[in-house]
Amino acid sequence: MCGIVGIVSTTPVADRIVDALKRLEYRGYDSAGLATSVDGRIDRRRAPGKLTNLRERLAAEPLDGTIGIGHTRWATHGAPTEANAHPHTTNRVAIVHNGIIENFRELKTELDKDGYKPVSETDTEIVALMVTRELDRGMAPFDAAASVIKRLEGAFALAMMFKGEDNLIVGARQGAPLAVGHGENEMILGSDAIAIAPFTNKVTYLEEGDWVAITKDDARIFDREGQPVERAMAQTQLGVSMVDKGNHRHFMLKEIYEQPDAISHTASHYLDLANGKVKLPSKLPFDFKSLNRLTISACGTAYYAGLVAKYWFEKYARLPVEVDVASEFRYREPPMDAGGLALFISQSGETADTLAALRYCKENGQHIASIVNAQESTIARESDIVFPILCGPEISVASTKATTAQLSVLASLAIAAGRQRGHISEAQEFELVDMLAKLPGAITKALGSEEKIDQISHKLSKAKDVLYLGRGSLFPIAMEGALKLKEITYIHAEGYASGELKHGPIALIDETLPVVVVAPSDDLFDKTISNMHEVAARGGKIILITDEAGAKSVGDDVDEIIIVPDAHEFVMPIICAIPVQLLAYYTAVFMGTDVDQPRNLAKSVTVE
Ligand code: AGP
Repeated sequence: MCGIVGIVSTTPVADRIVDALKRLEYRGYDSAGLATSVDGRIDRRRAPGKLTNLRERLAAEPLDGTIGIGHTRWATHGAPTEANAHPHTTNRVAIVHNGIIENFRELKTELDKDGYKPVSETDTEIVALMVTRELDRGMAPFDAAASVIKRLEGAFALAMMFKGEDNLIVGARQGAPLAVGHGENEMILGSDAIAIAPFTNKVTYLEEGDWVAITKDDARIFDREGQPVERAMAQTQLGVSMVDKGNHRHFMLKEIYEQPDAISHTASHYLDLANGKVKLPSKLPFDFKSLNRLTISACGTAYYAGLVAKYWFEKYARLPVEVDVASEFRYREPPMDAGGLALFISQSGETADTLAALRYCKENGQHIASIVNAQESTIARESDIVFPILCGPEISVASTKATTAQLSVLASLAIAAGRQRGHISEAQEFELVDMLAKLPGAITKALGSEEKIDQISHKLSKAKDVLYLGRGSLFPIAMEGALKLKEITYIHAEGYASGELKHGPIALIDETLPVVVVAPSDDLFDKTISNMHEVAARGGKIILITDEAGAKSVGDDVDEIIIVPDAHEFVMPIICAIPVQLLAYYTAVFMGTDVDQPRNLAKSVTVE
């Protein structure tokens, strides 16, 4: 999750870009850089570390120019060195980028054959070289950018400027945010409205797949097919508050859409993508190798994330895991062998029951690790080690991006544990890391079912009760789906393990009961199909969340199918979290409930 700023103006931009980057530093601060263009020549300054280093650099070697792009980086591909800092330039173009270009290795091989060699380890430079090759072939800047953007896979946002073009910046959004600010005789690009706020409160938020060409006078926006489109201009309220909903109707939807970006940020913190490895702090206060048991405590959605992690740690690291809701754990006085590892998961870091469970474990000689979003929170402060979630502020009471980011952290820890305990080889680690690296792209695709889910939600809104079913690591996602629906629609919903159906809940099934089945085509799929037959035979209405292969083999028993992208079972719980969030969201919107602040709930539960 890096920060991007670009300005085309009639007055000098360097200092203003650095000020805007300051407001984006929350997105990353491994290094920063800036490029401007004067008289058709692109110049740049970059510095490793925080923005203040770049400021010092600029004080010594200032940059003129009324057009420029800047970047504050959270390293993904390549170490946080000056050579890897953005902007990446060639003799024809300068580019800044946020996110991950998934197909950069194949593009690199292709460029290599044509003699275009990168000097950094980044995926961004590959984009700069691709554009340069198109320019060398005679394309105009605008067309060169368009033809390259089409070829990029993954979740990203980028901005580029061209040698000899002092009145053009091209930006693109695919899975990571980018907004256009409409100033007086100038146009601005920024990763969010917070960066743009000092210049103007008139903002247009690009939609998924959009790309834009800004000059000092206007912004032309195109959709993913290259068709010119109009996107509404919004007035931001950022003078009053630092967070806003952008062009989304609710914070919940905004946060659902932030997931590709949030997850690439988390991935870049926990994964060494260039080498296909998990990177954890070098000094952990515990040793995965010598652990006999991992104890996880959390509440609500965070507890379900812990349940998914149990499948991962037990399967990939052969580490036995106990997971409990913190409110139960704290009072049942579980015996604990000293020197064990207790892990606490909490978005807010202030949840009273989770904190009490933490203190119990501390008194009982456990190493305390926590996965939190609020890094200044009490849970963070009382932990021996904190694994930050890094998803940015989550405002909606119903947790979405914090959940998938928590899952990404847990998945990284499970790989590290498997590797250290000798149950995962180097090659397997590479494959699993690659799957996590590709998640932002897969989540962007999963978000593509939004329209279909909106339609299904109209039917769901009529239900009094809804049953969610899942097996294996998708069982907790079924429970998460039920919790989301309850929280924001007030419809009664329960999540069950599919195999438990016959042991009671099947008695509920009749033609009024929708059953949401979370079942991609994995090893257990046939068993779930049998469960679906049992539901259909009793008149139950099935909404199936599955992949293409699952959809093909399922037959006629299903009323609705929501397709998720094909992926390995390891990452499926994270991908399948998206449709269950959207299903709850659209049902709530259709019913007209207060989506972001549902009745009786609070974002941070600091009482037991
Ligand atoms: C989820 O949508 C919730 N609102 C709730 O279950 C939440 O996950 C739970 O209260 C735990 O909060 P925490 O992550 O801040 O500890």
